[in-house]
Amino acid sequence: MKTIDNALYIGDVPVRQIARAYGTPTYVYDEQRIRANYARVAAAFRTQYPDFHLYYAIKANDNLAVAAIVTGEGAGIDAASVNEILLAKELGLDGERVIFSGNFLSDEDIVLGLESGVIFNLDDASLFPRVMRFGKPDLICFRVNPGYGKSNVGDFVTNAGPNAKFGVHPDQVLDAYRMAREAGIRRFGVHMMPGSCVTDAEYFPFVVGLLMDIVGKVGATLGIDFEFIDIGGGLGIPYRPGEAPLDLEGAARKSVEVFRSKLGEYGLKPPRLVMEPARAIVGDAGWIVGTVHSIKRGYSTIIGTDVSFNVLVRPALYDAYHGIYVDGKEHGPRARLGLCGQLCENTDFWVRDRELPADIAEGDIVVVENAGAYGYAMSFRYNGRLRPAEVLVNGASHELIRAREGFEDMTRGVRIPARLRK
Ligand code: LLP
Repeated sequence: MKTIDNALYIGDVPVRQIARAYGTPTYVYDEQRIRANYARVAAAFRTQYPDFHLYYAIKANDNLAVAAIVTGEGAGIDAASVNEILLAKELGLDGERVIFSGNFLSDEDIVLGLESGVIFNLDDASLFPRVMRFGKPDLICFRVNPGYGKSNVGDFVTNAGPNAKFGVHPDQVLDAYRMAREAGIRRFGVHMMPGSCVTDAEYFPFVVGLLMDIVGKVGATLGIDFEFIDIGGGLGIPYRPGEAPLDLEGAARKSVEVFRSKLGEYGLKPPRLVMEPARAIVGDAGWIVGTVHSIKRGYSTIIGTDVSFNVLVRPALYDAYHGIYVDGKEHGPRARLGLCGQLCENTDFWVRDRELPADIAEGDIVVVENAGAYGYAMSFRYNGRLRPAEVLVNGASHELIRAREGFEDMTRGVRIPARLRK
């Protein structure tokens, strides 16, 4: 986002123009920013380890236009469910261009996963015999819980360690691979995803070291050559003002240093190095454009907007911080204010005390930043407040990539039994 004569722009499009053309609240993504983010992540690792590959975790932003930009750059897809596998298919990706990292899978998930021929990334050893009941995948990958995880979003998105529901316990990994090998599996990968949104560069080589010690022992004991080692996502972005960004290049360099040295230590054949980031690619390339509808001056001053927690749940769910800007007013005097959405829930009072333009007024356009990842994807309908529109900006052009929900979405699929009709 940039400011020209006090007006806010996403790409080269004034946010006022977006609000006028599509209404609010509307998610807006900057294609050029997505491409630049992708290129930076890819280059950071590829310059250190040329056999580096990206799988985009589509859960963060499953708009197919957004995902098409990322897969167009060369990424595969990390899918959390069968429906996300189908989204990948819509983009022309299948087979080993898709890794299926679901957890606590149903039999139906397993059957459909097998039919689609994607890489099975099993979240527990107990899944393996269940998969084998339905078919024999060519390649098996286990998601390892390396025993430690971390996140800037409190403990909310710490996905490894003793309190996490994910991954194979470190002491069970060897037996998991042994079971798979004894069942005749010959191709293997390994995966971890220990945390999301980490801006501490040292964390990445640390967890790579934990994983590699586990992988190394499996490889050496069972004589397995892993085709790929997937070190997950987790590359963080700063959300708060003044927060230091991740030293991405440093994280990549140090992670690959540990990776290579552990390959050497355990005598492993160099595999493909895989990552499946999402936030680092789309997080800061998305904004929500909203409107101030009403201002209450009671116990405190509360700015009422249409950016409710059904549109962006992260603050209500994780106490997450998102920067807010007011079109045309960023350079004037500031005051400490509260800001809320329109839901009948007090957690929708999602900013309690924030420096905002003192002259903010009804009708103003607000922009919420860092909404490209886990924004729309986690939105829902509540109180009759519907999911917003999504727009893609590319330079000075803008186009709708998902229509705003309408009333018909509230009744779609709903049946009133005849006996209940008047
Ligand atoms: N791979 C797997 C298996 C994942 O579960 C995730 C995210 C990723 C990759 C991508 O992680 P990233 O690069 O974005 O850190 N809703 C939370 C984040 C949950 C992360 C879930 N897994 C939030 O809004 O902060």
